Amino acid sequence: MELIPLSKAHKLQKTPVILVVVGTFAMILLTFIPICYPLLGYPLYLLQNFSNSPPSSSHGYKDAKKCDIFSGDWVPNPEAPYYTNTTCWAIHEHQNCMKYGRPDTEFMKWRWKPDGCELPVFDPAQFLEIVRGKSMAFVGDSVGRNHMQSLICLLSRVEYPIDVSYTPDEQFKRWRYPSYNFTMATFWSPHLVKAEEADANGPTQTGLFNLYLDQFNQEWTTQIQEFDYLIVNAGHWFFRPSVYYENHQIVGCRYCLLHNVTDLPMSYGYKKAFRTAFRAINSLEHFKGITFLRTFAPSHFENGLWNQGGNCLRTRPFRANEIKLEGINLELYMTQLEEFKIAEIEGRKRGLKFRLLDTTQAMLLRPDGHPSTYGHWPHENVTLYNDCVHWCLPGPIDTWNDFLMEMLKMEGDGHDETLNQAKLHSNDRKMKFR
Ligand SMILES: *[C@@H]1O[C@H](CO)[C@@H](O)[C@H](O)[C@H]1NC(C)=O
Ligand SMILES: *[C@@H]1O[C@H](CO)[C@@H](O)[C@H](O)[C@H]1NC(C)=O
Ligand SMILES: *[C@@H]1O[C@H](CO)[C@@H](O)[C@H](O)[C@H]1NC(C)=O
Ligand SMILES: *[C@@H]1O[C@H](CO)[C@@H](O)[C@H](O)[C@H]1NC(C)=O
Ligand SMILES: *[C@@H]1O[C@H](CO)[C@@H](O)[C@H](O)[C@H]1NC(C)=O
Repeated sequence: MELIPLSKAHKLQKTPVILVVVGTFAMILLTFIPICYPLLGYPLYLLQNFSNSPPSSSHGYKDAKKCDIFSGDWVPNPEAPYYTNTTCWAIHEHQNCMKYGRPDTEFMKWRWKPDGCELPVFDPAQFLEIVRGKSMAFVGDSVGRNHMQSLICLLSRVEYPIDVSYTPDEQFKRWRYPSYNFTMATFWSPHLVKAEEADANGPTQTGLFNLYLDQFNQEWTTQIQEFDYLIVNAGHWFFRPSVYYENHQIVGCRYCLLHNVTDLPMSYGYKKAFRTAFRAINSLEHFKGITFLRTFAPSHFENGLWNQGGNCLRTRPFRANEIKLEGINLELYMTQLEEFKIAEIEGRKRGLKFRLLDTTQAMLLRPDGHPSTYGHWPHENVTLYNDCVHWCLPGPIDTWNDFLMEMLKMEGDGHDETLNQAKLHSNDRKMKFR
């Protein structure tokens, strides 16, 4: 099941700075934003007093108080990539860009350079030592699976996992690293909450979904108690037409075209879905793990929507000063930060840790990292014609595991919450997303 991030009905909208097409009902969103999202336009942390209310302890950096590892630029790395499609079998067909004839290889040869410090390149042996005897679950959509497959490939220099899945359903895989007693699992839940497809075609041929925004998706919430790390993500599926239910009643919808149902912005559903997912985690009696929110990774369709010839043909990253997060990407990101903060405060009462794996800025800069037409043979009839949502393997998504490794190292370093709180570097972020 592939993502179709942008529905037919979206209006073409180009940013004045760079031609990043963001499919969205700009007018409708703009009308609703002030009502449903009063903070939009004001970076979240501008509205808080750090001295009075310490910000989240989402991340930090041990020896460099001023360094936010998620804020930086891509720099050339001639040593990359660290695996290929012949050394790693875990690359999903549709992300095996070299197999399908991608002509350029530059896109693999960059590493993330945070402003003011270094992000070490992933060390598979060290990673496996850190997670020895532990378990990690990926909950969310196929971009989360893309992330896990990158991790399997990066670890493949040391060991391959064995398949210990409890179901033949490919959406719920479980892998075990025998020498390290490390278990990894994926739970398919692109909306994070209880959801069902109400109409396979729907108004835009991308399916119409019923989203039960206040109900747990038990396919994962009943399964994660024993996991040490959860990596949660969601995003692209919220672009699809959906009917929003709360308390068993329809409260509105996102472009469902049902005549008596109020249209709401997609951030309405997105916000509630994260709130419910985090509430589920915080309500698990036996869960003791660390929850990572892997933030939204923007798509990069240019010169058209996904189904109107839009494509991602660039072969170089943007520099940080060439593009800024805005429009629906900013809105989804800010929604995530808000819900993260709420979850973190609730979690702290229970001794549960929440961490922000903040990939948004780094990935915004990588229009060159997507499969585009190289996720399938030219004659194949696939739903996502030009894939500007997922990421080629090897490719920039490998950096998510550099981030993850750095964060896991910090957890083990007698990581101090208070110190950490001083390091959110909201100031950098304010500048970037204003
Ligand atoms: C923030 O700080 C200012 C001055 O330090 C104070 O007047 C204001 O009430 C504070 N706001 C909050 C929400 O704590
Ligand atoms: C790997 O990529 C090469 C092109 O670089 C391609 O010829 C080959 O078929 C691919 N192999 C696999 C196993 O995907
Ligand atoms: C493997 O790790 C699990 C926890 O994930 C633990 O319960 C189990 O005892 C470990 N097994 C061995 C053989 O160390
Ligand atoms: C919409 O209207 C139809 C009939 O006009 C009614 O049967 C249906 O329950 C209404 N739906 C909602 C959500 O009010
Ligand atoms: C592609 O597949 C869809 C549905 O699977 C079908 O409706 C359409 O006609 C196909 N297009 C081509 C060119 O085969």
